[in-house]
Amino acid sequence: MRKIYVSPSFLSANFNDLASDIDLINKSEADWFHLDIMDGVFVPNISFGFPIISHIKKLATKPLDVHLMIVQPDKYIEKFKKSGADILTVHYEACTHLHRTIQNIKSVGMKAGASLNPHTPVSVLEDIIEDLDLVLIMSVNPGYGGQKFIENSYKKIKQLRKMIDETNSKALIEVDGGVDFTNNKKLYQAGVDVLVAGSSVFKSNNPEEAIQNLKNI
Ligand code: DX5
Ligand code: ZN
Repeated sequence: MRKIYVSPSFLSANFNDLASDIDLINKSEADWFHLDIMDGVFVPNISFGFPIISHIKKLATKPLDVHLMIVQPDKYIEKFKKSGADILTVHYEACTHLHRTIQNIKSVGMKAGASLNPHTPVSVLEDIIEDLDLVLIMSVNPGYGGQKFIENSYKKIKQLRKMIDETNSKALIEVDGGVDFTNNKKLYQAGVDVLVAGSSVFKSNNPEEAIQNLKNI
């Protein structure tokens, strides 16, 4: 049985009392901290940047899984490393030279991921799959938490699972957007390793229990 990871998205956390939510995730069964970085150009929203990542890094006892929804990510790779990112994921659609970007991320000592928007087919990763530590399948259009899961994502996850299993790739498959306890099992069966969950964790009355439920495959 494959390990199932849960990476709660801090986009839905309480920024008035971030320390409490960090502590909650430290104590929970969650595996990573998912941090969504938006620039208002690649996506129609702006979230947070380096000072918040550094602050979270000081208190977090688990790896920081940083999801960049920004154009020209190459400009900032070292700054994300210095801020405390452990895994850095860029969007395929934002990188003209994705191979170079992935090598740059690895060269400074981070795990490297590539993310696909809902309209981008999995096949575009065929020639880079063995270089990737992670592939993030967006199951909503990036930009906001709390959106409805796009059902076509299952098909993409199955295709990606097949691609990874048929090559020497060790990439983990992460899914992000509209993930909750109603689709976690089906996503795992389709081939997912890492569930990102924002509102289904932080908007729940009992976030620790919500994380447990997500892990209960
Ligand atoms: C959306 C972000 C997600 C978001 C997920 O652009 O990448 O990580 O926070 O939120 P939920 O789980 O509420 O769909
Ligand atoms: Zn995300």
